[in-house]
Amino acid sequence: MSEFAPRLLAWQRKHGRHDLPWQGGHDPYRIWLSEIMLQQTRVDTVIPYYQRFLARLPDLASLAAAPVEDVMALWSGLGYYARARNLHRAAQVVMTEHGGVFPRTAAAIATLPGVGRSTAAAIAAFAYGERGAILDGNVKRVLCRLFGIEGFPGDKAVESRLWVLAESLLPEPEPGRYIQAQMDLGATVCTRTRPACTRCPFHDDCIARRSGRTAELPAARPK
Ligand code: ADE
Repeated sequence: MSEFAPRLLAWQRKHGRHDLPWQGGHDPYRIWLSEIMLQQTRVDTVIPYYQRFLARLPDLASLAAAPVEDVMALWSGLGYYARARNLHRAAQVVMTEHGGVFPRTAAAIATLPGVGRSTAAAIAAFAYGERGAILDGNVKRVLCRLFGIEGFPGDKAVESRLWVLAESLLPEPEPGRYIQAQMDLGATVCTRTRPACTRCPFHDDCIARRSGRTAELPAARPK
């Protein structure tokens, strides 16, 4: 489907989310913090934690210098506490090994504790406009359904196939908005249960919808 990106971008302009607290700016610290919080937690839950965290620890230097107990207290209730420990450690790595300057490429960002390939690409796109594919849970679900990809997407072979597909769909323009568009489609239309296919810009193309298999794709983890 060659016009995937233009159609998704057109949909995002009208129906995407445009006023989330971490949108609009290019401060890598704020973007990184939001992406780590959003890794396993929904937007509505994240927003108050994100705002409280930033009010107390507004920049990298303040996070790096904070006692770990303070960081954990700010994270308390969000769950997946390894994220907070990694965040704190990564801030210290940036201060000691990068001269206090947040790394400027996705490849360099991906070396920080707690940041994988997809999160690094999202941060680099939002902060610096770097072009790159992402593959979080939302994107995996959209691609598996739209292209009828079988197999558990956490499986290594399926995952590498999905990365190749995600790379092949990347548009030249607007890397940040394209990433946001994929997240928005997965979070608001192509949801895990009861997807809103009638509102989907790929309604007519989607292999899962056409074959009545949105409940079966993506495949569940094998027992
Ligand atoms: N999930 C992960 N990153 C996100 C973002 N930037 N906006 C909304 N949901 C997200």
